[in-house]
Amino acid sequence: MKIAVFPGDGIGAEVAREAVRVLEALNLPGLTLVEGDVGAIAYQRHGHPLPAETLDMAKASDAVLFGAVGDPSCDNLERHLRPEQAVLGLRSKLGLFANLRPATVFQGLEDMSGLRPELARTIDMLIVRELNGDVYFGDKGVRETADGEREGWDMMSYSTSEVRRIAHSGFQAARKRGSKLCSVDKANVLETSQLWRDVVVEVAAEYSDVELTHMYVDNAAMQMVKDPSQFDVVLTGNLFGDILSDLASMCVGSIGLLASASLGERQTKFGTFGLYEPIHGSAPDIAGQGLANPMAAILSVAMMLRHSFGMEDQAGRTEAAVAKALADGVRGRDLGGDLSTAAIGDAVLERL
Ligand code: NAI
Ligand code: MG
Repeated sequence: MKIAVFPGDGIGAEVAREAVRVLEALNLPGLTLVEGDVGAIAYQRHGHPLPAETLDMAKASDAVLFGAVGDPSCDNLERHLRPEQAVLGLRSKLGLFANLRPATVFQGLEDMSGLRPELARTIDMLIVRELNGDVYFGDKGVRETADGEREGWDMMSYSTSEVRRIAHSGFQAARKRGSKLCSVDKANVLETSQLWRDVVVEVAAEYSDVELTHMYVDNAAMQMVKDPSQFDVVLTGNLFGDILSDLASMCVGSIGLLASASLGERQTKFGTFGLYEPIHGSAPDIAGQGLANPMAAILSVAMMLRHSFGMEDQAGRTEAAVAKALADGVRGRDLGGDLSTAAIGDAVLERL
């Protein structure tokens, strides 16, 4: 089993260190870890945020553990040299089109949610976000109109095959959970969304055991705050998924708790190849001070064990160790406590 670790910048490197300690503590037989550069650190060392060696290392591995990228020193670089291109490049070059973002409230954290505790307690959803299409990857630019105004445009498009493959990911995830899938779109005004909805309905015929509903994205944002218990799996496009998952993160209490898996079609001999990362960024405001919560990165390791290695037992043990630490009052500054990144790592390791 080969795992490529790309720590990246700022707190990315700090939280990845704790996640690697957890991986090592699990004593997985035949595990090899290799480390590669991404982001601003890669730009400094190799002149590019995603060097060819790093991409090759990812391709030669069974899974990637990613910290985070981004550094204010790179703000004036051309777009293709900015650290963020590393994560966009990995997602597109590795064909990672399905982004899974679970959001659940841990016991003892109900009072940290942006929602009332009695609502927060009911949150248990999985956002399945399409990651390779939509306005993020469409034709875009700024042009001058006939009357001399500047006009910006970003093309939104989805093909049937793009929708079909993410719809299958959504239905399969729903089948493993509560068998409820809510597809979120804006089919009342967008053609892209109408096609999305048609294809999702077509795919649903293969999953008669899953209950399918549709919701417009504006209503979905409202419903997530009003009554989050109604959501099990939420299936949506790249842009709507980006926004809704940040909304969900604040319902859970801290961005330092949310893990993610980005999966594609590639199968290894152990499971599905994937890239695993906390949903947060490099947090320059707290970098280098040991203030980051590494739990999102550690929970990303659990997702890796489950999806890329079929190790449900070790995945569950890792999640249980984090849950136990939180229930025992282990808190970093993001949750109103004072424990350092390494001390939170120690607390999780002890329970593991
Ligand atoms: P951010 O997620 O880095 O930080 C947002 C806020 O949350 C900050 O106040 C930060 O201190 C706090 N925070 C984030 N993670 C935390 C943790 N584990 N523990 C405690 N507090 C935590 O987002 P921001 O500030 O918008 O972006 C900073 C840089 O990260 C930018 O360069 C951005 O482009 C990049 N970024 C990279 C991502 C990636 O590598 N996948 C994702 C999001 C942003
Ligand atoms: Mg985002």
